[in-house]
Amino acid sequence: MERPEVIINVASSLDGVIGSKEGALSLSTKDDWVRVHELRNSVDAILIGINTVISDNPLLTVRYTKPKSPHPFRVVLDSKCRVHLDSKIIQDQHRFPTIIFTTHQSSEEKRSNLQNLGVNVELIEERDERDFLDMRTVLKVLNKKYFVSRILVEGGSTIITQLLKNQLVDVLHIFYRFVFVGNKGGKNLYDDHLVQNIPDALKFKSVEITKLDEGILVTLTPIKNIDKMRSK
Ligand SMILES: NC(=O)c1ccc[n+]([C@@H]2O[C@H](COP(=O)([O-])OP(=O)(O)OC[C@H]3O[C@@H](n4cnc5c(N)ncnc54)[C@H](OP(=O)(O)O)[C@@H]3O)[C@@H](O)[C@H]2O)c1
Repeated sequence: MERPEVIINVASSLDGVIGSKEGALSLSTKDDWVRVHELRNSVDAILIGINTVISDNPLLTVRYTKPKSPHPFRVVLDSKCRVHLDSKIIQDQHRFPTIIFTTHQSSEEKRSNLQNLGVNVELIEERDERDFLDMRTVLKVLNKKYFVSRILVEGGSTIITQLLKNQLVDVLHIFYRFVFVGNKGGKNLYDDHLVQNIPDALKFKSVEITKLDEGILVTLTPIKNIDKMRSK
């Protein structure tokens, strides 16, 4: 399949939590933020799920370093078009273009309001096994229509889980901050059923482990499950 290289970056507590019910947990440290913005500047698009837009309202631009031109696309998966028109990600389309992936079932009026603000609205109907937008189709459109050859995915946990389960991840960066935050009502890094046996777990090869501020940056590549790939 022709798809962009997919890189995930996420900040996690040591107990595997990436967000709270109320939103961002600010798990990144100053040096980690600089690294993330350099990473953003190295890709053609930065993708997040609609829940992250609603809870964290991120700007998703390149800062702390001189942004390349053109700026990477900001991409949101949002099948029901729940994005608020005053979200930061919708502002300043001239400098920081956004692509919203949605479906025909979303409000036509909302889609046209977004388009009037300069947002690229992409309609796809393909769904995955959890009835989310089919990630392979999203990646294909980004590659073919927007010439995205490298994409950074910044969460949240549902997006990360779907990409990992569908074996669509090339590199995974996890910044583990040396804190425990508890998990009642929290969002875990990986949001799936607990496996009973470690042989059934998703497996990774470690590429690099670096100490960074009050945490460690772990860079991993998933070990592909060949049987699953053959059955596709
Ligand atoms: N620590 C970090 O680095 C970090 C980074 C980002 C986010 N977060 C945290 O993560 C939390 C949000 O994560 P989340 O899991 O609730 O939501 P999310 O991954 O941000 O968004 C998930 C939503 O995106 C839509 N979607 C469409 N296609 C999808 C697909 N193929 N796969 C997955 N989702 C798809 C679905 O909504 P529709 O059905 O409406 O389309 C789905 O419910 C927040 O607490 C945020 O603070 C942490």
